[in-house]
Amino acid sequence: MSERDVPVGDAPSDRQTAPGNLPVLVVGGTGDLGGRVIDQLLARGKRVRALVRPGSDATRLEGLGVEVVRGDMLVPESLDPAMRGVSAVVSSAIGYSKRKKGDSLRTDFEGNRNLVEAARRQTVPRFVLLSILRCDLARQVPHFWAKKETEDLLEQRGVPFVALRPGAFLGGHSGGFLAGGVRRGRVFRMMPPGVRITFIHPDEVARALARATEESIGLNQRIDLGSDRPLSTEELAEVLTAVLGRTVKPAGSGMLHVLHFFARFSRSMRDYSAMFDFFATGKYIADTTLQAKQFGPVPRVEDAARKMLHEAGLG
Ligand SMILES: NC(=O)c1ccc[n+]([C@@H]2O[C@H](COP(=O)([O-])OP(=O)(O)OC[C@H]3O[C@@H](n4cnc5c(N)ncnc54)[C@H](OP(=O)(O)O)[C@@H]3O)[C@@H](O)[C@H]2O)c1
Repeated sequence: MSERDVPVGDAPSDRQTAPGNLPVLVVGGTGDLGGRVIDQLLARGKRVRALVRPGSDATRLEGLGVEVVRGDMLVPESLDPAMRGVSAVVSSAIGYSKRKKGDSLRTDFEGNRNLVEAARRQTVPRFVLLSILRCDLARQVPHFWAKKETEDLLEQRGVPFVALRPGAFLGGHSGGFLAGGVRRGRVFRMMPPGVRITFIHPDEVARALARATEESIGLNQRIDLGSDRPLSTEELAEVLTAVLGRTVKPAGSGMLHVLHFFARFSRSMRDYSAMFDFFATGKYIADTTLQAKQFGPVPRVEDAARKMLHEAGLG
């Protein structure tokens, strides 16, 4: 928590929760990004309820004063009690990260459908979905397409929604992986030479998700989220070099070849391999116009890199 970027002087220990305000339900709050969203909501004085799977550890959330309701996206009837009487739902939950044995893309397709139907039954006034940048152009990437189908279902079922679509995370789980290479002076090559993609730090994503639970952010919008400019692997290496003060070079394509090889044997690897093929098209780039209008100045990619390195104990 202390490493996470919540507004200064507004840490959860300082906050005053407004009496009588309806809770915001967070789905995925035990995850890395979901935890950051909860920190941001608490810092904004919100009451927070979290949907947590039976058997998952909610100790941190309980310690923060979050109301924990047990339920599972794959068990439709378990979702209604959690959604009853909320001012908004925020969902960052995913199955494709395979945190538990048996987790799969079923959560991303069927589980998200269950969430939307429960939100409709409970007339949830605002559903904030953590989606993915350009998911509508990537039918071949299952975990991207699950987000696109969920956005569409929210619209079709008349559930008022805000879908936030961030680019690749510089930070969190992905940041830990990238930082592992940076320690050895290399940055993992995600795209062919010269092809750019959008990066963003997960704290910026969490901040926007928390803001999107408020009435000042208009409903039924899909908003790209990114930093001030997209980067190629070569440019990311330059940014990391400048921030770190020692040379970081782009790695070769070895890891991508390995991933493509294993994609023959594993559905999960095929999903990730298809994602990297999509990155190679050069289409994974955010239009940050709406982001700037709704959430204020678009963050600098150098700041994202600095935070990622700091979180990994580098720099
Ligand atoms: N990494 C990137 O570059 C990138 C880019 C764009 C968007 N995103 C999005 O960012 C988010 C990343 O989230 P994260 O880092 O918090 O993921 P995470 O650490 O893998 O956490 C996943 C969360 O989902 C919950 N969950 C899984 N299955 C569930 C089920 N059946 N019912 C209820 N909850 C369930 C998990 O709960 P348990 O504690 O029970 O396991 C956990 O809280 C995702 O929405 C992802 O699509 C990521």
